[in-house]
Amino acid sequence: MKLKGKVAIITGAGRNIGEDTARLFAKEGAKVAIVDLDKARAEAVAASIRAEKGVAEAFVANVADEPACDKLVAEVTAKLGRVDILVNNVAISDNKKIMDITLEEWNRVMQVTLTSPFIMGRAAARQMIKQGDGGVIVNLGSTSGFYGRSTALAYTTAKGGVTNLTKSMAIQLSPHNIRVVLAVPNKIGSPVGKDDFDPSRPTPNLCGNRPGLPSDMAKVICFLASDDASFINGSAVFVDGGVTALMPGDAGVKW
Ligand SMILES: NC(=O)c1ccc[n+]([C@@H]2O[C@H](COP(=O)([O-])OP(=O)(O)OC[C@H]3O[C@@H](n4cnc5c(N)ncnc54)[C@H](O)[C@@H]3O)[C@@H](O)[C@H]2O)c1
Repeated sequence: MKLKGKVAIITGAGRNIGEDTARLFAKEGAKVAIVDLDKARAEAVAASIRAEKGVAEAFVANVADEPACDKLVAEVTAKLGRVDILVNNVAISDNKKIMDITLEEWNRVMQVTLTSPFIMGRAAARQMIKQGDGGVIVNLGSTSGFYGRSTALAYTTAKGGVTNLTKSMAIQLSPHNIRVVLAVPNKIGSPVGKDDFDPSRPTPNLCGNRPGLPSDMAKVICFLASDDASFINGSAVFVDGGVTALMPGDAGVKW
């Protein structure tokens, strides 16, 4: 088991990527804190992990709020004993263009998508430093954090921020033996903010055009959080079916 004895906090674990990551972490021996704003979702995931003999507790918290992040880390530590791994998975998108988005909408996306990994990361790192034996923080980026898009102005900007936040966190936390890495999805399961997985959604990619699955992400996040990845720090690992391999403007590829 890759994560035996570890305690992991996974934000936004009520569905899709966070949910599959929580399930796999539990199978790999971690005690998992299932964090979500949606109580019913968090409790359902935790209960089904426990039904399969895993260890999981549901926590309801808004991880875009600093006092809530500090309280969450204290509650997880009290209930599960310590914090070894944080997966900063929560994000929201805007799907707006520059001339349409309001400042309020922009600020909300920034708070949830960019500020949350900072304040949750800092809260978890404080606990890891107190424990004294390191830890791992996996931030969820996006291919949207590496390119401009015709929509999602705030999301692309926030995810670009998460890319560099990861590098600076990795540098600044390395004296404490805390690794910080970025997992970069593209079109995995249901779109961000949506419940429904549409298997007929076009997913052009270099991997047979099959849809990316939450389990594809979970396996990579689990690897990054484990000691198998102990020499990976500050890097971005793309789980995107190869879509970012193509040079923009190259029209020679038949998707
Ligand atoms: N799904 C994709 O195709 C895709 C593509 C690129 C990047 N990503 C990234 O992967 C991560 C997960 O994406 P997803 O599609 O699984 O997300 P999702 O929208 O399906 O699930 C997010 C979960 O987070 C919860 N949540 C939202 N705001 C919260 C808050 N403030 N506090 C606590 N919980 C909150 C929601 O209730 C939901 O259960 C995100 O960072 C996203 O940007 C996803």
